[in-house]
Amino acid sequence: MEAIHIFVFCVTLILFFIRPKFLRKSNTKNLPPGPNGLPIIGNLHQLGPRPHETLSAMAIEFGPLMTLKFGFVTTIVASAAETTKEILHTHDQTFSNRPVPDSVATQPHPEGTLAWVPGDHRWRNRRRICSTQMFTSQRLDLLQHFRHKKVHQLIAHINKYKGTPVDIGSLAFATTLNLISNTIFSVDIVDPDFESAQEFKELVWRIMMDAGKPNVSDYFPMLKRFDLQGVRRHVQVSYKRMHEIFDDIIAKRLKHRETDKTTRHGDFLDVLLDLMQEDGSDFSIDTIKPLILDLFIAGSDTSGLTTEWAMAELLHRAENYVILLGKTGKLSIAVASSTVKPCPQRRLKICDDNY
Ligand code: HEM
Repeated sequence: MEAIHIFVFCVTLILFFIRPKFLRKSNTKNLPPGPNGLPIIGNLHQLGPRPHETLSAMAIEFGPLMTLKFGFVTTIVASAAETTKEILHTHDQTFSNRPVPDSVATQPHPEGTLAWVPGDHRWRNRRRICSTQMFTSQRLDLLQHFRHKKVHQLIAHINKYKGTPVDIGSLAFATTLNLISNTIFSVDIVDPDFESAQEFKELVWRIMMDAGKPNVSDYFPMLKRFDLQGVRRHVQVSYKRMHEIFDDIIAKRLKHRETDKTTRHGDFLDVLLDLMQEDGSDFSIDTIKPLILDLFIAGSDTSGLTTEWAMAELLHRAENYVILLGKTGKLSIAVASSTVKPCPQRRLKICDDNY
């Protein structure tokens, strides 16, 4: 990382003094205002360790729509509900594509993803399949019992370590991975006792970390091929291993289908394999794997973190809430009655129905 800083600094310095013509004359006529940056690196150095706070402070000075330069990438930042609505709602078609980070583009068959393909017919087709085959209330209801089971496993695990600190984020993340893997493959992909088989969890985590790392290749596209920080080389290993794990599961399922042509698991893999067999289908084993991977990546950290934040919020207001564990196994959070003593240690009370 040090070497990258020195490299970018030297290039900046040289180009600052040489100032090629194309850099001096940039067309900024129609762009919203924004802070002055340095040549070459633009505003990158101004972002700081908490970019959301920096951008919020900048918006006070430059307005709800401002222009920043991240290396050679011009970025427009919308910081108010009205401007955001213009972009995400009124002009959603124009803005529906995402910039694809180099670490994501390097995965095998990126054209098979859902989150990163352009908003064309292939994207619409994948969206339709996910929303009709995975996220319908009927499908979700069918798997409700299973989600309860997973939450109970999580609580049982936490109870086993009563009195010792628990990393809720990590456990919630593992639980979410199993919720997704059961919806897609009908298997627990992480050990339900949270004690072994952590490989999958670590792979998903490493892919997310690599995708979130600031990468010189994304700000200076001409440097992509050098992969100066080694992000691409690093993430490729995780993608390859994930595909191997998926290959293994898919091969087992195909074998099962050969021996038993009628029984179906009723999961998302069955849906995708059925679609693959349709005439003119644009699905193949190679292109269903990136879609499955997208669901794991997009669904696990978001849900895990939301649980962690919700727990943190509850702990901060521990005196106001109790968690009820009903006889049916249903969990709910209730406002504590005056009969429950406030907890000075900020510990949430987990009670049965009759607390
Ligand atoms: C608390 C949980 C979650 C949060 C906060 C969350 C948030 C988001 C957000 C903000 C987006 C971007 C939307 C956009 O750009 O239009 C997104 C996209 C996406 N999410 Fe989630 N999500 C959550 C759970 C899940 C789960 C459980 C799954 C699947 C198992 C999932 C799959 C996806 C996919 C595939 C996309 C890309 C959709 C596309 O590009 O068309 N998410 N999510």
